[in-house]
Amino acid sequence: MPEAATGGETFDSAERLSPDALRELQLPRLRASLRYAYDHVPFYRASFDRAGVRPEDCRSLGDLARFPFTAKDDLRATYPFGMFAVPRGEVRRLHASSGTTGRPTVVGYTERDLSTWADVVARSIHAAGGRPGHTIHIAYGYGLFTGGLGAHYGAERLGCTVVPASGGMTSRQVRLIQDFRPEIIMATPSYMLTLLDEFERQGVDPRTTSLRVGIFGAEPWTREMRREIEERFAIDAVDIYGLSEVMGPGVAQECVETKDGLHIWEDHFYPEVVDPVTGAALPDSEHGELVFTSLTKEAMPVIRYRTRDLTRLLPGTARAAFRRMEKVTGRSDDMIILRGVNLFPAQIEEIVLRTPGVAPHFQLRLTREGRLDRLTVRAEARPDTTPEQRTAAVDLIVRAVKDGIGVSVAVEIVAPETLERSVGKIKRIVDARPRDKG
Ligand code: DLL
Repeated sequence: MPEAATGGETFDSAERLSPDALRELQLPRLRASLRYAYDHVPFYRASFDRAGVRPEDCRSLGDLARFPFTAKDDLRATYPFGMFAVPRGEVRRLHASSGTTGRPTVVGYTERDLSTWADVVARSIHAAGGRPGHTIHIAYGYGLFTGGLGAHYGAERLGCTVVPASGGMTSRQVRLIQDFRPEIIMATPSYMLTLLDEFERQGVDPRTTSLRVGIFGAEPWTREMRREIEERFAIDAVDIYGLSEVMGPGVAQECVETKDGLHIWEDHFYPEVVDPVTGAALPDSEHGELVFTSLTKEAMPVIRYRTRDLTRLLPGTARAAFRRMEKVTGRSDDMIILRGVNLFPAQIEEIVLRTPGVAPHFQLRLTREGRLDRLTVRAEARPDTTPEQRTAAVDLIVRAVKDGIGVSVAVEIVAPETLERSVGKIKRIVDARPRDKG
């Protein structure tokens, strides 16, 4: 259990473990989690049996690589409660993905799971600079999405005053921020930009608010975006990562004092990075797909869950025992393959954000001309951008994409305030290609 948060260096004693002590804690937890999943979830029993492994075959942390992966489709196939390891009566909360394509994925939590989740989110907010007594404005959506409620209970656990604003009703949010004077805001980075516009529309200088720290996640965002948000709001902007299948927000958190990637709370979530194509486990520091095994979850343990998020593992810094994950550069599903070249929205974000005269709002539109796919980067001009600057911006972006990524794209600089604004996770890619070839 966490110690009383007194505003010291860390939120709880686990954060002060040595790397060796953490490893010693992980192995028995990992073995217990494999055994628990095998004994309580028929899916895992069948998948381990098919792979010819038994929980007791895991004698070292490296042995985990012998166990089969779990994918999002496995959760869909067992919809709604097939991955649960406890009787329904012990499930205190359900969350679910939006399920825009096919069945949603459902996740469940026991009372202890909810408590662990609140602990790791409290630890995350603390690492971001939050302290008991701070007021936290939560603009992640509340509901089946894990962002709002996940952040909420963590903030309460830390001893903060919570403003459960949720997403949307942006003009009211600006008012609330001025009136309630929160030190901390939690939102998607794209929604923070929507708030920025609204501050400006209301004639309020966003640099003059009470906000000191923003904890942003739920979607990829670049260092360039960090700089933009930090400068425009005069705050520190740090990254929070998580996914519903593993828990929700609070799987990993960037520390405000170092801002050098996200410490994974490895006492609860064991990370691996694997080759996204072959599935081979990769050594730390190599780029690949992030995979998680839960070490303490009760309602829905996950074993080697493939996140599709691309990153790499780095040694701990501000929290020595906890390895860091580099900022997520993209999801394998968001990768655009344009005439054989792989491209992620984050790469375009970097370029757009360093182009003078262009606002941090952009969209990627895929179309097809004849048999060739074509990508148009649509970025918004800033209100004071001149026609000459717009023309220059088109050239700069075309050239930067060609030189940096190696592919030709079309660029359109559209008028200020024409692109749709985000209220939660932003959708960067608009696929307007004919349906036959996905
Ligand atoms: O987005 C949980 C969350 C809520 C995290 C609020 C942080 C803040 P899902 O809806 O299941 O859960 O989506 C999970 O979002 O696999 C990543 O692709 C992406 N994602 C989440 N955090 C980050 C981040 C929540 N900091 C999926 N950077 C994940 C990049 C992120 N991508």
